[in-house]
Amino acid sequence: MLDSLATDPTPSLISPDMLPYQSRTTGPLKLGVLASGNGSNFEIMIEAIASGQLHAQVQVVIYNNPGAKVAARAERWGVPAILLNHREYDRREYLDAAIVEVLQRYEVEWVVMAGWMRIVTPVLLDAFENRAINIHPSLLPSFPGVRAIEQALAAGVKITGCTVHLVVPEVDAGPILMQAAVPVMPDDTPESLHARVQVMEHRILPRAIALAASRTSS
Ligand code: GAR
Repeated sequence: MLDSLATDPTPSLISPDMLPYQSRTTGPLKLGVLASGNGSNFEIMIEAIASGQLHAQVQVVIYNNPGAKVAARAERWGVPAILLNHREYDRREYLDAAIVEVLQRYEVEWVVMAGWMRIVTPVLLDAFENRAINIHPSLLPSFPGVRAIEQALAAGVKITGCTVHLVVPEVDAGPILMQAAVPVMPDDTPESLHARVQVMEHRILPRAIALAASRTSS
């Protein structure tokens, strides 16, 4: 799938700090994925791993919405998928403590928030300091928070995109690892624009994971 993206006719631009997929001099990165819904970014990671482009393995997927499509995707790939329904926790910190317990049980080294629609707390971030990555469908710092695609359309910007960044307590504010730009077309709907943004998300997410890991290990 990654290779087929090279034929995407949509003009786009990826930040130049791209490329290094993980070198093979160390063991595979042990990833834990947090996802709330569809899970296409989870699957692109799995495909990058399966095709040898990302030297990693997904130890576990944690999802918070019963019936989320990501669970079926994980099952197809034989990845454990654990439901932690946020509605059953009185405080964000309690949910995050449960998440940390699962991630540690599965010996996760890096957390990837791939469509995780919950605000995380220091309970999670202290346990994975500088080892938590998020993907967001805008060129941060523009349009943080929810409904980033709709925010971009409402603002009338001509270019938007996606960002992969390290997670800090402030929402969508951590150090940027990689970005890709996507033009906004005059007739775009939230759905059509999101679809083109996702093409670019799928390109940069595996590369950004490798980049983050290579910076930490060097
Ligand atoms: C992605 O577009 C991601 O950037 C966004 O959710 C979508 C998940 O897609 N994340 C956020 O908006 C986080 N603030 P997916 O489930 O197909 O990977």
